[in-house]
Amino acid sequence: FIQFIKFLDTVDSTNSEAKRIAMEEQVLEGLIVSSEQTKGKGRLGRQWESEKESGLWMSLLLRPKVKPEAASSITLVSAAAMAHAIEACTSLNVGIKWPNDLIVNGKKICGILTEMSAEINQLHYIVLGIGVNLGQMSFPVDIIDKATSLKKEGVEVSGKKILSAFLLAFSNFYSQYLEGDMSQIISYHLAHSVTVGKKVQIITPIETRNAYVLDINADGSLLVENELGENEVVFSGEVSVRGI
Ligand code: BTN
Repeated sequence: FIQFIKFLDTVDSTNSEAKRIAMEEQVLEGLIVSSEQTKGKGRLGRQWESEKESGLWMSLLLRPKVKPEAASSITLVSAAAMAHAIEACTSLNVGIKWPNDLIVNGKKICGILTEMSAEINQLHYIVLGIGVNLGQMSFPVDIIDKATSLKKEGVEVSGKKILSAFLLAFSNFYSQYLEGDMSQIISYHLAHSVTVGKKVQIITPIETRNAYVLDINADGSLLVENELGENEVVFSGEVSVRGI
């Protein structure tokens, strides 16, 4: 799945760079890594702090032959692969906050921003943007209680080492995903989930409501019990889940 690897010193955002490449080259798949991002993007239009050499900032440009509706579960593939990579390179336990935040000692260490271009029934490309905090010792006030880095957790490991471990794990999970087999990926999520069995808030653009998380379904969606005691399925991309 990788035909090119582009290492940059600086870029606005590796996701934006991947999208530019996707438009120029209609078939290419590959990887972009940058030491610094000047306009790193987070989910929900947020900014993502990406100072020079403080983290692993990367995007995969992929063109899986799947239907657009199967595309969002690729986020789960990358979350499982990165959790596996961090655990393989450190002695830390990594939790996964469905669908894609990686958590160490209750704080976020890695975020994933998936962007895609698709028409009805045809997926053009997916950009999987992954940011792992490696060396920050401080964070902006608004996220200080919520964010951490490997260094803050007492681990010094290079971005290259994490990247190699990630690519190995990702190629394994990704081939299962392409074969339509999500079983090992879901099992990995269930074993590392900090969401299942918890009360959470489901935050959509129109409302916020409480729910209890029962399970992760075979397609990667979340099974919750809502405030009326009914079972409900929550799909990623539409919501944000916050612990209460
Ligand atoms: C989140 O809000 O949790 C998602 C953060 C995603 C950050 C990564 S860093 C590499 C890639 N390029 C970006 O601009 N964002 C993603």
